[in-house]
Amino acid sequence: MLKHLLSMDEVSIDDIISILKLSEDFENKIIRQVFNYACDKILATLFYEPSTRTRLSFESAMIRSGGSIIGFSDSKVSSVSKGETISDTIRTVANYCDIIVMRHSIEGAARVASEVSSVPIINAGDGANQHPSQTLLDLYTLKNIFGSINAFGGHTIGFVGDLKYSRTVHSLIPALINMNEKTFILISPQELCLDQSFVDRYRKDGVILRETSSIKHINDCDIIYVTRIQQERFPDQTEYEKVKNVYRITADMLKPGLKVLHPLPRVNEISTCVDKTDHAEYFNQVRNGVFVRQAIIHKILGEE
Ligand code: NCD
Repeated sequence: MLKHLLSMDEVSIDDIISILKLSEDFENKIIRQVFNYACDKILATLFYEPSTRTRLSFESAMIRSGGSIIGFSDSKVSSVSKGETISDTIRTVANYCDIIVMRHSIEGAARVASEVSSVPIINAGDGANQHPSQTLLDLYTLKNIFGSINAFGGHTIGFVGDLKYSRTVHSLIPALINMNEKTFILISPQELCLDQSFVDRYRKDGVILRETSSIKHINDCDIIYVTRIQQERFPDQTEYEKVKNVYRITADMLKPGLKVLHPLPRVNEISTCVDKTDHAEYFNQVRNGVFVRQAIIHKILGEE
């Protein structure tokens, strides 16, 4: 049972499997509102950072499950702009809803919220740290590609782009390791490589990590997960300017069968010429977002 969803480090394999199965039921419309778990419940979305997919898909998931939504998508219109702390905002909003989905630029913000909140908190991204609901929909998409939940394991998975600041990567790698994937190729410019502490920890656990800056290694992979360079996290924008166009993947670069995932939004790292090919999985990820978020809400609200 899940109280909060803060980090993939705290989600067990059993919980992952149960959420993926439940998502399948939502996709196949086996569950609709039959459990009434969301009826007369309210979900609040507190977004201190920009979002399109995460916020709207959580809101859509709640409404599709029979519940209601409140919230803000721009902290400037809330009392945050008057100087209110995260803790006070959460203590307040928890009186108005049954579950809170929040995104914030500060790492650990969702955990701080969970410590003062009387209702469950879902972390929809905290700085460069974690983005667990994105990871669960990424896993669901991979499950569809592999054919079944039991087919995880034995793939070579590439991560391409900004591995230093991408919270989606920081969430997904440990979850894949939990799902028995043990071989990763990390493709990034030197300045944006995965933090050494992660690399050391995973290697100690027997995971094979190859680090390179050469994009040609995408074709050594079965799957690649591409990320945008996270401009907003760079302390120095001149550093961003140096790396912003480092990779641009076009359809002719991809070997047959290579699947390309991306959490979106994309900037210029995947050419639109890939969109209509069998390589492109990123719009399937978007579609899966609602089913998976329905399952997450159900798992938290429906099993209280
Ligand atoms: C990601 C995020 O916010 O971390 N977006 C998303 O939720 N799909 C990825 C990104 O912003 O690059």
